[in-house]
Amino acid sequence: MLVKEALDKYGKTPDKLIGAMLAYQKSTLCNYLTEEDIKEFAKETKIPESRIYSIASFYSLLSMKERGKYIVMVCYDVPCYINGSVNVVNELEKILEIKMGQTTTDKLFTIEYSSCLGCCDKAPALQIGATLYGNLTPEKISSILSTYRGKKDE
Ligand code: FES
Repeated sequence: MLVKEALDKYGKTPDKLIGAMLAYQKSTLCNYLTEEDIKEFAKETKIPESRIYSIASFYSLLSMKERGKYIVMVCYDVPCYINGSVNVVNELEKILEIKMGQTTTDKLFTIEYSSCLGCCDKAPALQIGATLYGNLTPEKISSILSTYRGKKDE
């Protein structure tokens, strides 16, 4: 997807910009926005580059750092923390052989902290793409990750 295509689909006004940026980012191989992308969004929308940059750096769903195809967002708000999100993170780090915030060498997974995912009744929880996983235990992590390995493009 091109920046222009994302803007044509979602709209060029400031209130539609985040949707366009998310869609464009998702279409990139490494799930992030480059400096060139920021410039392109600014040029196409006539919104100052500094404003586009501040949006990209403020929203946690947007990134200016190269990431994996799948972002594993682990909720770290209080209900999830109390219910063992630390164990979930430890298991993810062990299986993927990376630390929080890092990307696997095959560029498949990035692990990131998230604020509340809106399913506190199923704490601890994580989200990959649009899919939420709750009531997690370390034993469930391997099976969840394996569903994304070898998965065809969506
Ligand atoms: S606190 Fe984790 S989903 Fe709400």
